[in-house]
Amino acid sequence: MTQDRTQAQEAILLVGGKGTRLRPLTVNTPKPMVPAAGVPFLTHQLARARAAGVEHIVLATSYLAEVFEPHFGDGSSMGLHLEYVTEEEPLGTGGAIRNVASRLRSGSDDPVLIFNGDILTGLDIRGLVTTHARSGADVSLHLTRVEDPRAFGLVPTDEHGRVTAFLEKPQTPEEIVTDQINAGAYVFRRSVIDSIPAGRPVSVERETFPDLLATGAHLQGMVDSTYWLDLGTPHAFVRGSADLVLGRAPSPAVPGRCGDRLVLPTATVAADAKLTGGTVVGAGAVIGAGARVSGSTILDGAVVAAGAVVTDSLVGARARVGERTVLSHAVIGDDAVIGADNELRDGVRVWCEATLPAGSIRFSSDQ
Ligand code: GDD
Ligand code: MG
Repeated sequence: MTQDRTQAQEAILLVGGKGTRLRPLTVNTPKPMVPAAGVPFLTHQLARARAAGVEHIVLATSYLAEVFEPHFGDGSSMGLHLEYVTEEEPLGTGGAIRNVASRLRSGSDDPVLIFNGDILTGLDIRGLVTTHARSGADVSLHLTRVEDPRAFGLVPTDEHGRVTAFLEKPQTPEEIVTDQINAGAYVFRRSVIDSIPAGRPVSVERETFPDLLATGAHLQGMVDSTYWLDLGTPHAFVRGSADLVLGRAPSPAVPGRCGDRLVLPTATVAADAKLTGGTVVGAGAVIGAGARVSGSTILDGAVVAAGAVVTDSLVGARARVGERTVLSHAVIGDDAVIGADNELRDGVRVWCEATLPAGSIRFSSDQ
């Protein structure tokens, strides 16, 4: 298939590896399938790629792969052709890309999009492909700026945007040479994918990119300061879900109009309960009288009882938050039961199925 090179028709979505479960929250759910704004997170990435003209997407998976296909099928309901490839052992990011090469239909010079599966972003996907075509690069990378780049791949560029180095997870202060990081979306010339060694683990960040740079390949960076969030933690997940509902993170897959709240059809919300800040109430969930829920995700079947105050928190599927309990920056695992009159704050995480009796924990004084 040879195509207009300012338009990518194919993409690879990386949804495997070791850390793909949102532990200990949703014990059997890989992160890409945890609902964000009411639909499995992956739906947003698929829909955004489709909106940018992509027609064929290969999901490279290695873990709990069997949950993707029953949900998304062949992709035709989204106007996509989806394929699934499962690694027996995780092959790393580069190995996963190489492992699906035989499924691509692009010609050797054509652009192929590659996305990390845990990123929520407003990236101008077509813009990245256009930049790639204009610069004639071998690989083009979406870059974003962050305050603390240590958890990411650092990508310094020259005055033309050409990448000069790739430093994954820098360990020493001397290595922190830029605040530009790899935002986890690339365009690869198809032939570069075929040149990754097959049949063994390869890290695109630690091996492929440094090797390409060492051999004089052209890696082009595109700094795009649009909305960008790595959903690596449950708190980031809650933030991302709220931003989808609020319309700050653009996605054609949000089910319903953007606004202060998203209440899925079978949820029950008391007339005087207050839902704000991009709160999502999942299917079958119940919000009691006078409860106030802000910037939070209440997963399917959960109960937030009367008078509870929930802020910037995640309440797992079928979990129960008791009367007058206060949650702030808390993560409550699936099926956990928090009794009445508790106060949980500041990043606390309650394990799935745990039970906290009424009046057990508080942070504020007794007065
Ligand atoms: N199929 C498959 N197999 N996918 C994998 C594997 C694997 O063995 N290992 C990782 N992945 C997928 C993950 O599911 C995720 O979607 C993506 O590749 C990146 O892996 P992470 O484990 O999330 O990496 P990270 O967040 O520490 O760092 C990456 O993302 C940063 C941006 O969030 C790197 O690409 C950094 O350079 C980047 O800055
Ligand atoms: Mg990540």
